[in-house]
Formats: sequence, C-alpha cells, structure tokens
Amino acid sequence: MPINMFRRLGGLAILHGYIMKLLVLLLCSAVAVTCGKVRQGRKFPDGFVFGVATASYQIEGAWDEDGKSENIWDYLVHNNPDAIVDRSTGDVACDSYHKYKRDVEMMRELGIDSYRFSLSWSRILPSGFANHVNEAGVQFYNNLIDELLKYNIDPIITLYHWDLPQKLQELGGWLNPLVVDWFEDYARVVYESFSDRVKSFITINEPGQVCYDGYGTDIKAPLLNATGIGEYICARHIALAHAKAYHLYNNVYKPKYGGVCGYTFAMDSVAPLTDSEEDKYAVELMTQHQWAIYSDPVFSKDGGFPKELLELVAKKSAAQGFPRSRLIDFTEEEKAYIRGTSDFYGVNHYTGSLVSSSLYTSQYAVPSSLDDIEVGQMIPDDWLQSASAWFQKMPDSMYITLKLIQKRYGDLPIYITENGWSSYGGIDDDDRVDYYRSALEGVLDALDDGLNIKGYYAWSLMDNFEWLAGYTERFGLYQVDYDDPELTRTPRKSAFVYKHIIKTRMIDPDYEPETNVMTIDEGH
Ligand SMILES: *[C@@H]1O[C@H](CO)[C@@H](O)[C@H](O)[C@H]1NC(C)=O
Repeated sequence: MPINMFRRLGGLAILHGYIMKLLVLLLCSAVAVTCGKVRQGRKFPDGFVFGVATASYQIEGAWDEDGKSENIWDYLVHNNPDAIVDRSTGDVACDSYHKYKRDVEMMRELGIDSYRFSLSWSRILPSGFANHVNEAGVQFYNNLIDELLKYNIDPIITLYHWDLPQKLQELGGWLNPLVVDWFEDYARVVYESFSDRVKSFITINEPGQVCYDGYGTDIKAPLLNATGIGEYICARHIALAHAKAYHLYNNVYKPKYGGVCGYTFAMDSVAPLTDSEEDKYAVELMTQHQWAIYSDPVFSKDGGFPKELLELVAKKSAAQGFPRSRLIDFTEEEKAYIRGTSDFYGVNHYTGSLVSSSLYTSQYAVPSSLDDIEVGQMIPDDWLQSASAWFQKMPDSMYITLKLIQKRYGDLPIYITENGWSSYGGIDDDDRVDYYRSALEGVLDALDDGLNIKGYYAWSLMDNFEWLAGYTERFGLYQVDYDDPELTRTPRKSAFVYKHIIKTRMIDPDYEPETNVMTIDEGH
C-alpha cells in the first residue's frame, strides 16, 4: 500500500473514532436516562477489595498504658495544647485499645473485606529503638489481628502513620540520616511479630504530610516549620527508609510468607486554571512539589527526584546565597536502591485545586517549597466545602487523580488506601453519601479505562482525633459520641449506603436505607 494511502486510511480511522465518540456523547445527552441506566449497571470486579481505614494515634487512646511511651503527637497535645483547635488530645480518642472488639463488630456490620490500620511505634518500641520490645504492645495488635482473622477480615498494616516516638524526635526525627536504620529496625520487629498472619504492609502513610506538614511547615507534629529546608531533608531520608524497610520484607519475609509491601501517598487532584501551556506546566510543578518528590524515586523509570524541581531548588538556593542546593539529590547507588521498591501504589485522595503561575504571590515565606515553584492555587466557589478548611469537593477528582498516576507511571496495581468526607457531625450525612457515590463512580470510570485498581478503603470507620482539628471535624461512617463515657459508635446513613454498595458491588444512586438498625449479615 502506498504510504500516502496508508496515512489517509489511518486518518480516516482516527476521524471515524472521533465521530463515533461524538455520536455516543450526543446520544447520551439526548437519552440521558438510558445511558444513566447503563452506568448504574456497572459492577465492581470480582476480587475488588472494599475496606475501611484508621490510624493508631487517631483512635487508640491508652496513650501511656502497658508500657507505651510518648510519641510526637502525645508530646504536642500535652505541651502545646493551644495548637489543637478544641484543645483536645488523643489520650483516650475512640479508646480502640480497649474497644477493638466493637470496632471489628462494626466492620462485620459493614461487610468489609479488609481493615487498614496503623501501628504505634512507641507502643511496640518504647525507647524508639529495637533494644526492648514491649510485649504488651505486640499483644494488643495480636489480639486485633486474631479478631479480624476470626471473621475473615484481611488485615493491612501501615507501619508509620505519623506518630514517631518522641525520643527519636529529640534526636532529629526524620531529619537525622540514622532514621533510615531506626525505621528498618522497627520494621523488622513488626514483620517478625505479624507477617505469619498479615499479608499486606504499607511502610509509610503520606510521606508528603510527614515531611512538608511536619518539618517544612507547622501543620502537623512536630510543627518544625523549617520552610524550604526541613521538607527536603526529610524527603531524602523517608525515601531511603521506605526502601530499606521494603528490601527487608522482600528479601526475608516475602519468600517465607508471601505477601506484599507498598507505599501510600496523598494526592490532591491538580488541574490547570486555564488551557495555557504555562498552566499545564504549573500542574507539573505542583505535582512535583505535592507528591512526585516522594513517589518518583520509587515509581519513575529513572528514579530520583523530579528533574525540574531539582533544577528550580538549586537555582533558587544559589540566588538566596546557600552554598549548596536545599534539595540534595540521591547518589546513583541510592537511586537504584530506591527505584522499584513497592508492590503497589497506595493513594489517599480527598480534594483538589486549580493551579497557575499567575496565582503565585510573593507572600510565600522565603525560602519555602511553594516559593521554589512559584505556583499558586485556587478553589472555585461552587465546589462544596467540607468541615475541613483544606477540603472541597472537586468534580470528578477521583477519576482525574487515578489517571494522573497512570499517566506518570504507566499501569501498576493501585489501592485507594483512603477516601472520605468531613462533616461537623450528625447521623443524616447526605453530603458524605454523595461524596462516596461520586468518588466510587470515578473508580468505576477508571476501571472501565483499564486501570488496575485492586481495592478501596473508606476513611474512616468512625469519627476520630483529626490532628490539629481535634474532634471538630468528623470523617466517620460511624458517629462517635464523645460525651458518652462508653464512646458509643452509631452508624450514619453513609454506613448503610457503603454496606449496600459492598453487598451489591454496585452504586445505586437512589438507594435509601430502610432502617437505622445495623445487623450483621450471614457470613460476616
Ligand atoms: C512558620 O513560618 C512562617 C514563615 O516563616 C511564619 O509566617 C509562621 O508564623 C511560622 N509559624 C510559627 C508557628 O512560628
């Protein structure tokens, strides 16, 4: 076939594709009902995992019981109570340390397949180091794991969800290069204790929130606020610590027990303010600042930090008189050591924003990582505001976020390890119901596109201690009555809706719970 003819035919085929898509679109808008029904009929695939997630400091309480030592959140709430909006603490929280059987009962009510929870490092290793293992702490998690397994709920353990032992913080925490070894030592104790029964591990939850929020700003403990410096030092060490804990699992425990080990990132959905090339580049820079600085070293083809960010920070650092870049690159050996160290991509997704370099203001602190990239963000007025200042409902944000992963790293197994909505409280949580339905529609859209999404964990099982917001923001499928000494948990409407989705493996937009009495279905 003459090459010209081939091109023309190819061109025709492409044109044909577009025309077909256009036709489908037109038909769907004309006969919205039909297409709506088709969409309603979509099912989550067999084997798709539904779960709920929590974190140790947010629910356990028992902050100094049975040998547990202080972690950075204990230390913060006890020494700087004004930092917490309602001056509350996680001393008791949901008291899951004592009420874990009720928690598991709620999971059986929901009919979930899997529970993602985190371990308190300072409950297991009170000195922070592996010189002394606190058997009572290990026993608590053994009891929880055994209770889950009794009811066929698959445990997935997060080793680190933000509660570093205070003693390690006093030695610099994630800014001390030795943290890489401390984390490996802790991981070894965890794997030794639990990997005979637990087959899924996540090393670190949201490195960006550990580094940027905790060290680069004053949003999370330890509120170090070393802007433009702390987050970059931490970013290096946390990637190395994750990799070391992964290699340990992969080399020693995986061959013996099977199982997987991964890494979880917080990803906002970032979209350009306009169609301009500048704004598309702003999306790339905001992406690098927000999460790719943490995920590229593990998932990108070449490993290491994102190239543009490295160059920008080096340039700014020089202009600011620093003798070397505030973002120190990995050696080639380190890059190779970190690259490929995750069996899946874990994503926590909540919100989004529109970004543009035209929204950059010179009011950012200097140095700081937002000043380094010179990109600003905005939230359109018509995005529904949650109870959390940082959290608005962006249309289609789940789908957009999942596609960002695919675009950057290709096809890989993905778990949505957190997703949920914050309210001020109340049982009739229609906004949360709407949020879950649209997010899960986004998951189905992404599955239709062929993405390999293996599971979804709702955040959260119940209301809990929401960091600096204390108990003022509620994320629970179950409401917790903090005025009641029993800390009674009551299912919200969203709990019934989530249960129905899990049971039918479909999203019925018209489903209304007929009762407010939760029961456990047969087989759970
Ligand atoms: C954190 O640093 C920023 C920028 O230097 C400053 O504006 C802010 O007040 C600091 N926060 C605290 C709690 O010191």
